[in-house]
Amino acid sequence: MQPLAIFASGAGSNTARIIEYFRHHPRIHVALIVCNKPDAGVLAIAAKEGIPALLIEKERFFRGDSYVEELQKKEIGFIVLAGFLWKIPEALVRAYPGKIVNIHPALLPKFGGKGMYGRFVHEAVIAAAEKETGITIHYVDEQYDHGRPIFQAKVIVETGDTPETLAKKVHLLEYEHFPRIIEEVADLQNHR
Ligand code: GRF
Repeated sequence: MQPLAIFASGAGSNTARIIEYFRHHPRIHVALIVCNKPDAGVLAIAAKEGIPALLIEKERFFRGDSYVEELQKKEIGFIVLAGFLWKIPEALVRAYPGKIVNIHPALLPKFGGKGMYGRFVHEAVIAAAEKETGITIHYVDEQYDHGRPIFQAKVIVETGDTPETLAKKVHLLEYEHFPRIIEEVADLQNHR
């Protein structure tokens, strides 16, 4: 069994789908939810599902040990970022080379980087009069939204779309593709 950790600090709707997808999976299981916000919706999901949660603090994450030992103690072999807004420190990237993936709600390299999250992304897409937007799933390196892309899916931006309607369309793409891509990448890592 490959224990996987999800780093998430938002509502956790992707996390809920990922948990569901791997519930009876023969090789991969969601072993830990890592979160930096004590009031995040994702913690309620972890509690309901009986999945251990680790609430992390900034100082230790960025200037301490980045919780690497804690993750290794729990035998976490793969990390999924699903709405986690902090940059991943070098120590963690080095401990998990090619084993951390993120989902971004736009077609990177456009509309990525610090401050480009949630509603801000969709507002920027509309302001730029983009004809399409979508999702990017990519490996994580030390820079925001920068690592090697793994998968993209697109959706049309229609006249009259608002940040809210775009967010809905993009979320649907995330639910459709993210769990399956996680499975593919985690399996690939297992066979190395
Ligand atoms: C998703 O849109 C994801 O692309 C982004 O953060 C959002 C998380 O939403 N990185 P949720 O917490 O999974 O509902």
